[in-house]
Amino acid sequence: MNTCSSNDLNARVARIIDDLAERGWSLQTHFIAPTLTLELAEECRKRAAAGLLVRAGVGRSALAVINEGLRGDHIQWLEAGQNPACDQYLALMDGLRQALNQALYLGLEDFESHFALYPPGAYYKRHLDRFRDDDRRAVSVVFYLNEQWQAEQGGELRLHLADGSHHDVLPVAGSLLVFLSAEMPHEVLPATRERLSLTGWLRRRGSGPL
Ligand code: OGA
Ligand code: MN
Repeated sequence: MNTCSSNDLNARVARIIDDLAERGWSLQTHFIAPTLTLELAEECRKRAAAGLLVRAGVGRSALAVINEGLRGDHIQWLEAGQNPACDQYLALMDGLRQALNQALYLGLEDFESHFALYPPGAYYKRHLDRFRDDDRRAVSVVFYLNEQWQAEQGGELRLHLADGSHHDVLPVAGSLLVFLSAEMPHEVLPATRERLSLTGWLRRRGSGPL
């Protein structure tokens, strides 16, 4: 398999740590070996074809409501032990979790992630990933699965920065976008083709029932 050396991976993780500390977000365009990225994209398409991806709701699971106007993606949550590629991805994210804890003392306890498929024209309006009533999500992690994505196909993740400007990220296969969940409003712009990603969150310990 075309794996990247652990030194390369360590260097990328070190850049993520520096970026998060300096400006709250980081983009690594070749975070994961292309073969693993391809396997994850195939797994996402397979699940979509099997009807396993469902319209995403908004808010915490039990209270989630499907909001036609806010987001149009279809999702399925990842679980360990279902697929080797997914398990490799979860292991990489656990490594990232531990490195962030060591360097930034974030107290990240676990990682949750779902496949997301945006049909052509679907979008997710400007939002923050930290829910009003759930402050566990500390770091958002989006990994893109789209081979040969062209800028004119749209589908940018638009990060709204503190100075009022924005930064657009194309959902290109192999790119990992990491940002502080509570501080970075963002949105997904519509695309002219299907758009696949793994979207997830590194979470802190819960503070218990409110
Ligand atoms: C989300 C989200 C971004 C993306 O699911 O909360 O913002 O690029 N996704 O898919
Ligand atoms: Mn989001």
